[in-house]
Amino acid sequence: MRIVVGSDHAGYKLKEAIKKFLTERYIEVIDVGTHSEDSCDYPDYAAKAIETYRVEELDGGILICGTGIGMSIAANKHRGIRAALAYNPETAELCKRHNHANFLCLGGRTTDIDLALKIVDKWLNTSPEMGRHLRRINKITELEKRECR
Ligand code: RB5
Repeated sequence: MRIVVGSDHAGYKLKEAIKKFLTERYIEVIDVGTHSEDSCDYPDYAAKAIETYRVEELDGGILICGTGIGMSIAANKHRGIRAALAYNPETAELCKRHNHANFLCLGGRTTDIDLALKIVDKWLNTSPEMGRHLRRINKITELEKRECR
């Protein structure tokens, strides 16, 4: 499995912990930054991670800012990206099973590291369900083809 990770300054520490967690489990991690706690802008790192996900044809991505909210808003502006802000293992499982979330967002200031790692583990180890869930995903994909109103 190959995963891209990205964060702003507020998500940097959690990103580093997630990188270690994934690497120890033999998951290939591509880190698009940021690489310090110096202030930066989360939309830039969402865009870099999504570009990498597409070009490298990765299995998914993890984005972290202070709350996970900015990253999820920014990531969901990109076509084909279903970014979900999960706050416990149950939402991590459901966002993959029901919403086919290809990006997981986390809050570095709102979710402690132990819980965040459980969320990551659950998201990675859950498969998307098809049937009615795929029908709903297809409706979201159709929305992306519309002109802005
Ligand atoms: C940065 O201070 C903070 O606003 C950002 O990390 C994020 O939480 C935005 O949604």
